[in-house]
Amino acid sequence: MQFLAWFNLLLLLPCFGTTKTCFPGCHCEVESFGLFDSFSLTKVDCSGIGSHIVPVPIPLDTSYLDLSSNKLETINESMLTGPGYTTLVSLDLSYNKIAKISSTTFSRLRYLESLDLSHNSLEVLPEDCFSSSPLGDIDLSNNKLLDIAMDIFASKGQGKPLNVDLSNNMLSTITRHREKSIPNIQNLNLSGNRLMSVPNLQGIPLRYLNLDGNPLVKIEKGDFTGLKDLIHLSLSGLRGFGEFSPYSFKELPALQVLDLSSNPDLKSLTAEVIFGLNALQELNLSGTGVSSLPKTALKYLPSIKSITLGKNIQCLKTIKEGQYHRQIGLTKKEVLSCHDSHGEPLLRDDVQQSKGSRGVCQQPHLTQEPASDEAN
Ligand SMILES: *[C@@H]1O[C@H](CO)[C@@H](O)[C@H](O)[C@H]1NC(C)=O
Ligand SMILES: *[C@@H]1O[C@H](CO)[C@@H](O)[C@H](O)[C@H]1NC(C)=O
Ligand SMILES: *[C@@H]1O[C@H](CO)[C@@H](O)[C@H](O)[C@H]1NC(C)=O
Repeated sequence: MQFLAWFNLLLLLPCFGTTKTCFPGCHCEVESFGLFDSFSLTKVDCSGIGSHIVPVPIPLDTSYLDLSSNKLETINESMLTGPGYTTLVSLDLSYNKIAKISSTTFSRLRYLESLDLSHNSLEVLPEDCFSSSPLGDIDLSNNKLLDIAMDIFASKGQGKPLNVDLSNNMLSTITRHREKSIPNIQNLNLSGNRLMSVPNLQGIPLRYLNLDGNPLVKIEKGDFTGLKDLIHLSLSGLRGFGEFSPYSFKELPALQVLDLSSNPDLKSLTAEVIFGLNALQELNLSGTGVSSLPKTALKYLPSIKSITLGKNIQCLKTIKEGQYHRQIGLTKKEVLSCHDSHGEPLLRDDVQQSKGSRGVCQQPHLTQEPASDEAN
């Protein structure tokens, strides 16, 4: 079918005065959308050919260009220039050997929204290297970046939300130069780096932050200051991690998901540590030494729906209705009910008996005033 479509296109296009040539070795694909196929996107796949492929001529209305796995060592603006490049929306340069880019490398790509530079050998990024394009996704994972200035992700003007993947690099520092504008990053992946402390990301409107696998020894009060929009924080598998200072998460009023899994040295979570997590719905403590929560947990976690404890013990919040329906107020009790990995319920008595082996799953409860529910 695709062949047929392509064939038709070859027949039709010259009538409109455009010729589409697909460079030998590359694979061009046209996808049509909309009523009567009124809108089409051209994808050009030049992956796995070899470094001689650049500069490759591409059809005029190319949206996606795949240059991955070509053993490219350098890439500069003269390799990314030409008729089709002006309209490019997505560029894949992953799995090459690119060690260096300059501040002008992508300067001609004025409509580029997605750039994949993952699995290369980049050590540094020059200032302004991304500032010419309206990027929404930048994948820099699996490179050799040693430090990065967040300012390179700041755009001039439009302020489009940005996803940045910096996982699996060698980042030990993240710098900010205050005089420049704040980058509009919503999702930031810093997992698998060498950060020994939580970087200063203050004011960046992050919704997702991943710091998994960094050698963060300690997390302290104030570390997450200025991240009031953060919804999902992942702190899994921190190497050598020991403890959270009281009020570490106090500044995260919107946080819904907190992943603290695979931190075997984390032995307890006090009420002071979880203080302030008013929006938290999911807490993952699997693979930690935490086998019980303070009795007041539900009071400090008023929105919690699920807690995973110790070795695959899943606790869900359930609401038990009180017995005195006829009274003015209906008493509702919120309890955490816990199950092991086989779905077997762990009742309070079981839990106490299984202390040590399966961990203790206490059932803290909270009595709520029912007034608002009755009104509905
Ligand atoms: C881009 O790189 C190629 C190959 O290394 C080189 O011949 C060319 O002069 C470079 N262009 C610019 C503008 O640096
Ligand atoms: C963050 O990076 C890690 C490692 O590359 C990956 O496993 C994880 O899925 C990433 N998270 C997101 C949301 O992309
Ligand atoms: C908790 O974390 C573990 C280990 O990272 C993962 O396997 C599990 O799926 C997570 N559980 C939930 C409920 O997210």
